[in-house]
Amino acid sequence: MNTTINGISLEYEDRGRGLPVILLHAFPLNRRMWEEQLSFLGGHCRAIAVDLRGFGGSSSSEGPSQMSQMASDVRGLMSHLSIDRAALVGLSMGGYVALAFYRNYPESVCGLVLADTRATADTEEARERRLQNAERAEREGAHVIVDEMIPLLLSHRALESRPDVVRHVRSIAAQASAAAIAGALRGMAQRVDSSGLLPRIECPTLVLVGENDSPTPPKEAEVMHSLIPGSTFRLIRNAGHLSNVENPEEFNAGLLEFVNSMLF
Ligand code: MLT
Repeated sequence: MNTTINGISLEYEDRGRGLPVILLHAFPLNRRMWEEQLSFLGGHCRAIAVDLRGFGGSSSSEGPSQMSQMASDVRGLMSHLSIDRAALVGLSMGGYVALAFYRNYPESVCGLVLADTRATADTEEARERRLQNAERAEREGAHVIVDEMIPLLLSHRALESRPDVVRHVRSIAAQASAAAIAGALRGMAQRVDSSGLLPRIECPTLVLVGENDSPTPPKEAEVMHSLIPGSTFRLIRNAGHLSNVENPEEFNAGLLEFVNSMLF
């Protein structure tokens, strides 16, 4: 399905009925990374997966794709779908968007799942690297960045012994254009530090992380969990950064428990 929000054509999928749960994808992927969650959650609640601006079937914009702009796109999509409040599930970049969303529209959030993500802003060094990578994507093509991202997104175990998973993730990432990659890299580089927001989160929150996640390791997730009042924490075994793709059974079980805890 498709609609125009903030001048951007946004592509999304909407399955099931009941509590709205919006799935926000990682970089440089798109909503296809949520296939297993969409079909599972769609049987228990209303699961919506959106292509963030520039990615998948959504159109890109000029300049940096700010996390707050992506959050505004999601709020616009909620209005389009007549949804007042939703639970947001954000993985990595999707988590940055979920935190930006909570900062700007807390009254529209009934639950937060922060998966394989962080609340802190980039270090000066990381910011510089992102800006260089944005230029490389524009100069040399999206594939240079995609090739470098695959080993970060997956665990060693998956890289060595699960060629199906590697192929699947690569085929999703290969859909990203240089413009989408450059825009998101510049937007992530500009994101603000959300650490101060964590103690002010008032909705039910689940922090999830793959035990072998190297870009956003369990230690960082535990710190986020310790700062968010009343939050719960779940370690996903045998999974790297894309914990939902590497171990969908445990990820889905965590999501379902969380959704049920909001219903009953
Ligand atoms: C992601 O998976 O979305 C990226 O690792 C986020 C980032 O580059 O910070």
